[in-house]
Parts: sequence; C-alpha cells; structure tokens
Amino acid sequence: MKRIVVLASGSGTNLQAIIDAAENQQFAGDVVGVITNVPEAKCLARAANHGIATACIDHKAYSSREEFEADLGQAVDSFAPDIIVLAGFMRILTPVFVDKYLGKLINIHPSLLPKYPGLNTHQRAIDAGDDEAGATVHFVTAELDGGPPIIQGRTGVRENMTAADLASEILYSVEHHIFPKAIDWLCDDRLRYAEGKALLDNTIIGESGVQWEKA
Ligand code: GRF
Repeated sequence: MKRIVVLASGSGTNLQAIIDAAENQQFAGDVVGVITNVPEAKCLARAANHGIATACIDHKAYSSREEFEADLGQAVDSFAPDIIVLAGFMRILTPVFVDKYLGKLINIHPSLLPKYPGLNTHQRAIDAGDDEAGATVHFVTAELDGGPPIIQGRTGVRENMTAADLASEILYSVEHHIFPKAIDWLCDDRLRYAEGKALLDNTIIGESGVQWEKA
C-alpha cells in the first residue's frame, strides 16, 4: 500500500473524495496524514473523522516562505509518504520544495490546462465565452500550474452560469472523480514523471492529460 499525504487549505471536498476512495479500495493506498496551513480549515475535521493524523503549519507564524517550507517539509517527511497530493493547498511552493518531491507531488487545478493557470479560472472561462470548462490533475513542477498534465475532465458551461455555479459543478462532477483516478495510477506504479513529461504505462501523456469521460 502506498502512503499518501494530502495538503489542503480549505473545505477539503477533494480530500473527502480521496479518503472515501481509499476506504472503498479504489486504489492501493492509505491516506496517512493531512497537513494544512489554515488552523480553522474544515479539512482537519474531515481527517479526524476518519482517524487520520493531522498537522497544521500556519504560514502566518513565519516571516519567510523558506522557514515555512522547512517546517512544512518536516511535517511531510514525518509521514514518509510515497505520494503527496495538493488538494486546494493555497500556498505557492518554492522550487526548492517542489524539486525535492518531484514525481511524487500532484495538484488539481480547476481549468482545462494549459488554459487558465493561476486564479479565477471559472470567471475567466465564462468571460472568454468557452462552452466547456473542467479540471486537470498534474505533476507539480516549479512553474505555477505548469507541470505536465495527467488527467483532465470537462463539463459544459451553460448559459447564465455564474463562476460559483461552474466551480461547484466542476468540483463535484469532475474533480472528485479524476483525482482518485490519478492516485490509482500512481499507487499501481503505472504513472511516473520523467524529464518534464508525465508517462502512463511508459507512454508520454499529451499536453492536456488523459481525457476522462463521465460514466
Ligand atoms: C478545488 O477547486 C481545486 O481545484 C482548487 O481548490 C479547490 C479546493 O476545493 N485547487 P476543496 O477544498 O477540495 O473542496
């Protein structure tokens, strides 16, 4: 069984989907720890409800990103993880941190990467008049939301949808499904990172990731 650590800052619905998938044996891994940077984040209660160990490294207690990351790294290492999942972890990580865990570290981003890295992805998709939007799981590299995509799922943008409507639709109908899938491939050693590319079963994944279809 692979050891999985999840880093989250907020409500943690992706964390919940990952915990549920682990408990339902959808992948060969255990969530052994949850780390947050926000003391009051709901993800802590979600972890505690499932008997999962937690750590809080409050970035506000640090005067530099480097010092924050040194303690964050210690907390991560204390769980001896095989896989580190950023599930709504709202801190930018420095290249020093990211490079240390390269190939083990994955993130979910609520856009059809390479479109819309960064913030306000849902509003940007609406403003651009896109008829589709979605989310992408990718390996984390030093470039913000720029690491190689692993899996991507899409959903339609309907007329009059607000950014909040679209965010919720993507979260529940796409994100909660594609994250466990990527973790499954990592647990089975089918997915790896090499030289800036994501490979599934030794084949390089295209620039938008494996396209996931709703069942
Ligand atoms: C998700 O939309 C994720 O894509 C983004 O942050 C949000 C986290 O939501 N990076 P939750 O905390 O998992 O509910």
